[in-house]
Amino acid sequence: MAILADPERTQKSGEGLMETLTSPERMRALAREFRAQGERIGYVPTMGALHEGHLSLIRRSKQLATRTVVSLFVNPTQFGPSEDFRKYPRNPERDAELARLAGADVLYAPRVGDVYPPGYRTYVAVEGLGTTLEGASRPGHFRGVATVVVKLLNRVAPHVALFGQKDAQQAILIKKLVRDLEVDLEIEVCPTVREEDGLAMSSRNAYLTPEQRRAAPVLYRALKRAESAVVREKERRAERIVDLIRETVAAEPYVSLDYAEVVDAGTLAPLERIEGSVLIPIAARVGATRLIDNVILKVEE
Ligand code: PAF
Repeated sequence: MAILADPERTQKSGEGLMETLTSPERMRALAREFRAQGERIGYVPTMGALHEGHLSLIRRSKQLATRTVVSLFVNPTQFGPSEDFRKYPRNPERDAELARLAGADVLYAPRVGDVYPPGYRTYVAVEGLGTTLEGASRPGHFRGVATVVVKLLNRVAPHVALFGQKDAQQAILIKKLVRDLEVDLEIEVCPTVREEDGLAMSSRNAYLTPEQRRAAPVLYRALKRAESAVVREKERRAERIVDLIRETVAAEPYVSLDYAEVVDAGTLAPLERIEGSVLIPIAARVGATRLIDNVILKVEE
């Protein structure tokens, strides 16, 4: 696969060459060249600390597109003042190697000052969707996510962008903003990748002590309990499902539930009865670490 002359850095990748770049201008020029050559651009935005979940998105992008761009940017505007922006795991060399081995063609790692230059004033808010669930627990989080995603999409100009189902609210919100702002691309949401014991892969799992790590799969067990109540026992009362999740998580002393809800998978509106496409998102603290997970159920009767 031929790749363009590189003013920054080009490394051999599993399938060709991977260009690593930080300059937004270079990213824009490269996207233009790809498009002029008739390439289809797949894009996987990340904050680094890559794990199998991210790599599955890169592999899926390679099935959907002829060029895959991965971005690496720990976005300060989506972290609250008391959150983990400073200590968020950063290992750009390892990330570059993993992205390359998964077959990425371009690694775009802009600097904070290039994304938010002095005097920066413009933010994107997706009304309603950004202030419930994670948005209620983390005020301003989705404003930061929506803003950076729009900026990154403008630079990378992908035909398709890929997100993980683990961050279900984020995926729903991004689909909505793409529709509302008429951004010309497809959004592909890919299944959550799990450890063998069911724990959803997350960069924040790295914070867990061995005891906390052993306790954390209770989130998955709680969701499986909820799923089984809906699918096998035909339970349709949302309140009962939330109770089952609470009971399951309460049995694990290292884990404290932040929220468990039953909402419409398209609009995030709370549901009393379980029917249609239903999202059950949960969030919990495991020590100082906040973890999220969810399940989507399609209930016809
Ligand atoms: O899901 C993430 O890693 C981030 O929220 C994203 C989409 C890369 C925006 O910073």
